[in-house]
Amino acid sequence: MSVPERRAVPSLLHVDSILTHLRGRAALQEVCRFLQAEFRHYPWVGVYRLEGETLVLEAWEGVEATEHTRIPLGKGICGQAARENRTVIVDDVSASPEYLACFLSTRSEIVVPIFAGGAVVGEIDIDSDRLAAFDASDRGFLEQVAGRLSAAVAAGAKPG
Ligand code: SME
Repeated sequence: MSVPERRAVPSLLHVDSILTHLRGRAALQEVCRFLQAEFRHYPWVGVYRLEGETLVLEAWEGVEATEHTRIPLGKGICGQAARENRTVIVDDVSASPEYLACFLSTRSEIVVPIFAGGAVVGEIDIDSDRLAAFDASDRGFLEQVAGRLSAAVAAGAKPG
């Protein structure tokens, strides 16, 4: 699976439009909803916000809720991506020592950090039920989405 340029460009414009109309958690929720609906290989899409040493789930879209709504930085592929300040793609989660299982159906995962001022403030986490669902085009596309989400993630920290 991949995200060809002809789909990435209009999708990024749509994300921009969401972010002009919505703020904070509502914006993150709508971006998750859009990505999950638009890309068949993104069956579960979540956004975590880094709060101290813990990743806190701010918004998600998919069939099932995850029990991992708070992930310590030391745990999981989510923790790894935040610690290492980089996108992590795992083609086969059953072979990953870092993997924190959420859904029985998950076969592969991508975690993309969201930066503000050079520091990780959150991340996009996508689980797929296919092996090796994510390639360099997903990484490139999702890093561009993540680059747009830093203000919405920061706003999520505020009450209301
Ligand atoms: N699998 C993730 C945990 C979050 S769930 O996928 C929603 C991880 O290993 O960090």
